[in-house]
Amino acid sequence: MGNNLRGVLRAHSVKKGKTVLLRIDTDVDFVGGKILDDTRLTACDKTLSYLLKKGADVILLGHLGRPTESQKSKIKSQKYAEEFSLEPVAKWFAKHYKGIVEKRMIGEFEGWEITPHLHLLENLRFFSGEEANDKEFSRSLSILGDFYVNDAFAVSHRSHASIVGIAELLPSYAGFHLEKEIETLGNILKDPKRPLTVLIGGAKIETKLPLVEKMHRIADYVLVGGEIAEQDAMLIKVQHEKINPPAGGKKSAVLVADNISSGLDITDKDAENFIQILDISKTIVWNGPVGKMGVTETERNTLRIAKAVASSKAYTVVGGGDTLALLKEHNLLNKFSFVSTGGGAMLEFLSGKELPGIEALKK
Ligand code: 3PG
Repeated sequence: MGNNLRGVLRAHSVKKGKTVLLRIDTDVDFVGGKILDDTRLTACDKTLSYLLKKGADVILLGHLGRPTESQKSKIKSQKYAEEFSLEPVAKWFAKHYKGIVEKRMIGEFEGWEITPHLHLLENLRFFSGEEANDKEFSRSLSILGDFYVNDAFAVSHRSHASIVGIAELLPSYAGFHLEKEIETLGNILKDPKRPLTVLIGGAKIETKLPLVEKMHRIADYVLVGGEIAEQDAMLIKVQHEKINPPAGGKKSAVLVADNISSGLDITDKDAENFIQILDISKTIVWNGPVGKMGVTETERNTLRIAKAVASSKAYTVVGGGDTLALLKEHNLLNKFSFVSTGGGAMLEFLSGKELPGIEALKK
C-alpha cells in the first residue's frame, strides 16, 4: 500500500477460535425504523466475510448519532435512549448474514448475537468513555477480543476509544474498505484531474467550516450551499480573501449560494451558477446536500445539483450520510465513480489532515 498501514491481510494469526473486534460505520439515517441507505453497512462486507471465512469470531463495534450526556448510560447495563439504539442495524446484519437478533451480554456490554460467530455491541456513544477516548473504557472493549480491525473510515477522524484507544491495546489492522478509501482519496489528493470542484452543503457546520477553508488550497472551485452557506456565508468569504495563492498557481474560486426565503433550498440563479461549474469540472468531490431533503416542492434545486453531479463525465466522489440517503432515494448512487462512507472524514482526509484512526494503525 505504500503508506505504512497494516492491512488485514497481514493479520496472519487471525484464525479459528480468535476473536476480532471489527469497528464499522453504523451511523446510518432512519425513517420510521427503516434504514434509508445501507452503503455504510455493506462497506464492511468484504472484511467481515474474510474474517468469518478464516474462522474468527467477530464482534462488531459501532455508534449511532450523537446522544447527549443525559441520554448516555453511566453504567453499562442501564437503559438507553431508544432512538439511538443499534437494534435496527442488528436486524440488518441478521437479514444479510442469515442470522437472528438475540439480545446478549457480551462481556459487560449489551448487544446482540447475530450468529454464533457474529455479535454486535450496542451504540458505543452511550458511554462517555467512547468520545473521551478514556483508557479504562478502551481497556474494557479490548478485553473482548484478540485483534482489532478498523473498517470505519467515516469515524476515523475522531480520537475515540473504539477508533484510537483500542488500537493501542490490541494488534490492529485496517479493513479492506478503509484501505480502499485511503487509496482512492489519496489519489485525488496527489494528482486530481483539473478543474477540481469541491461541493459542500448540509449540516455539522462546526466540522465543515475549517474544512471549507482548507479546500480553497486544493480545489479550483469551492461551491458551498445548504445550512453552512446560510449561516456562515460572510465568514467563508472572509476566509477565502485571506488565502494566498499557492506558489506558481491560482487560488480557488469560491461560490456561496443564497437560499430561497424558506431556507429549504438554494435559489435558481445559484443552482445555475453551480451547474455551469460542475459541467466544466474534471473531478468533483461532494459532501452534503445543498437543501433540506424530503420537502418535495422545495428540493428542486437540491435534486438538480445532485443530477448534475451524477450525470457529469468528471471523476465523481461523494460521501456523507445525508448525501448518500438523498442519492439512494433518487436512484443516483450507482452513477458515481466512488462512494465514500465518510462525510467529515472524507473532507478532513482531502484537506491533508492526518486522521487519528488511520495514524493509530501505523504505530
Ligand atoms: C459521520 O456521520 O460523519 C460519522 O459517523 C461521524 O459522526 P460524528 O460527526 O458525529 O462524529
